[in-house]
Amino acid sequence: MLPTAELHIHIEGTLEPEMLVGLARRNGVALPTSDLDELRAKYSFADLQSFLDLYYDNLPVLRTSQDFYDLTSAYLDRAGRGGVRRAEIFFDPQVHLRNDVPLAAIFDGITSALGDSDISAELILCFVRDLGPDAAMETLRMALPFRDRFIGVGLDSAEVGFPPAPFKDVYELAAAEGLHRVAHAGEEGDPEYVRQALDVLGVERIDHGIRAMEDPELVARLRDEQVPLTVCPLSNVALRAIDRLSEHVLPKMLDEGLLACVNSDDPAYFGGYLDDNFAALRSELGMTEQQFATLARNSFDASFATAGQKAAWKTEISV
Ligand code: ADE
Ligand code: ZN
Repeated sequence: MLPTAELHIHIEGTLEPEMLVGLARRNGVALPTSDLDELRAKYSFADLQSFLDLYYDNLPVLRTSQDFYDLTSAYLDRAGRGGVRRAEIFFDPQVHLRNDVPLAAIFDGITSALGDSDISAELILCFVRDLGPDAAMETLRMALPFRDRFIGVGLDSAEVGFPPAPFKDVYELAAAEGLHRVAHAGEEGDPEYVRQALDVLGVERIDHGIRAMEDPELVARLRDEQVPLTVCPLSNVALRAIDRLSEHVLPKMLDEGLLACVNSDDPAYFGGYLDDNFAALRSELGMTEQQFATLARNSFDASFATAGQKAAWKTEISV
């Protein structure tokens, strides 16, 4: 099993239908159906928004710190079986706060599970971009008392129509607090979203970034500056950012010398975990073990782990 880092994983996107039904029962939350086949039938999407609608609809089942613990533990167990040594995990506190879950319950549940795992894991707090920059700022201020429990901030949810630039002040505060900064950009949004994330927000990593490939000047910059790109192949196909996996730009990204790595994004919704992404890239794109080794090395280089940790994990890559 190839050792890797997973740097683009939404903990809420690991909510498998079985756990959804179990948590709904445990917490007395009504679901439209508890039939697993009927639930699974809804996991088919036209675009990012149609996925987000279901993703947000499912989240009221998460109520207690135990729920967040169970969700996170299940992900870490599954990820570990797929070769993940390091995970930098996104969460969306605004959604849970809206569902009346206290911030302390979210942090307690998730960070206890991180502490109980063999995987080196850290948390990245994401802002829901369609709730706007003022709400993001309020969320960051609310989270600062828990500053030692997360290592960075990110920007997710609906992209087109919600460009990065208005979040400048929030990212400045995050930088002043010593937090790492990443943002989703170039998933559905055009290359300008990627430029703004780099130039206005000062991000250290771009989440997705596939549409950057439409802009040769931007590609050259990403190569020259070795900006990490957390690419999510099965997600891109599930949300129809790309028609077929066989047309994915990932091999071209590697050919261009970009620091791209593979991630699962929302594995419960998109047909698989990190190892499933690698298996699909092998069978449908014919990617080689050599390319996978490059992707694995990239994933460690792109992580916010220490230089010593990165070096140790990379020695495990045999190809
Ligand atoms: N939230 C969860 N998954 C996401 C994705 N792929 N893009 C944007 N926001 C998300
Ligand atoms: Zn994502």
